[in-house]
Amino acid sequence: RQALIIDCDPGVDDAVALVLAFGSPALELLAITAVGGNVPVEKTARNARILRQVAGREDVPVFAGAGRPLRREPAGAGAFHGEEGLGDLEPFEPEAGCADGHAVDAIVDLVMERPARSVAMAVLGPMTNLALALRKEPALAARLGPVAAMGGARSEGGNITASAEFNVWADPDAAAEVLASGCEVAMFGLDVTHQVRATDERIARVAAAGTPAAATAAAMMRFSQRVEREIVGWNAPPVHDPCPVAWLVRPALFGLTPCRIAVETESDLTRGHTAVEFREAVAGELPHRWATRADADGVFDLVAAAVAGAPRT
Ligand code: BDR
Ligand code: CA
Repeated sequence: RQALIIDCDPGVDDAVALVLAFGSPALELLAITAVGGNVPVEKTARNARILRQVAGREDVPVFAGAGRPLRREPAGAGAFHGEEGLGDLEPFEPEAGCADGHAVDAIVDLVMERPARSVAMAVLGPMTNLALALRKEPALAARLGPVAAMGGARSEGGNITASAEFNVWADPDAAAEVLASGCEVAMFGLDVTHQVRATDERIARVAAAGTPAAATAAAMMRFSQRVEREIVGWNAPPVHDPCPVAWLVRPALFGLTPCRIAVETESDLTRGHTAVEFREAVAGELPHRWATRADADGVFDLVAAAVAGAPRT
């Protein structure tokens, strides 16, 4: 089993990623770490606890992390996720609280105490927590296994601005630090997440499992469908955050290409743009990977199987 820490900002698509992870026997979930992103960190940490309760996975600790980006002002994405972060799901105070301690310390401790390269991370929000963990413990970069991050845009253009994808735009300094750290980063940007769309048929396939986790995942995607239809004009919204988690469960579902990724941190116009260089002669080294191709039905098969195995009540 792959030991995994999921860093996230739920978020309707983070929510689908979490239920996928909660129901995937191939993963050993060490912790969920929450970050401010789509909504403030108090809400993302609460939402992570709601989702683990719905999936019957209170055994997985949730740690609250950074409330603001390294340097930029916090900016949310409530229009796409609802003001509380889980679409129109009425939030409630979950039975179990957050684990003691800060997410950044939890990441350092969990990775440093285990064998080198054995712990993977899925980073589904702004990369602030991981960047802070690398500042605190630089040896972490060589110790971590694969870092599968949702973020960036190349051929698709941006979603928050013309040039940038939300997670990288929200904390470009964190993304730049993580990419320069020596971590084994595989990025799942809009080029690939826009291939993984929640059609009516796929949402129905997930809902059919009939568990609370299935109903919640389907509700998240239906909410996304409504807002993306209104804001962007898409009937089948992209489902971003499950992609890196699905890759960790079944790598063959994605095609990745070695590259070097740099992030624009200064320009107001292109802040958060990901410059992806595939040419070794130009880049010198190709230390990162960029996802270019996804088997969307395969991703939804995994989500459907994960929610089907969740508790019935
Ligand atoms: C990313 O931004 C967030 O709003 C989503 O949760 C996803 O992680 C997509 O650009
Ligand atoms: Ca997210």
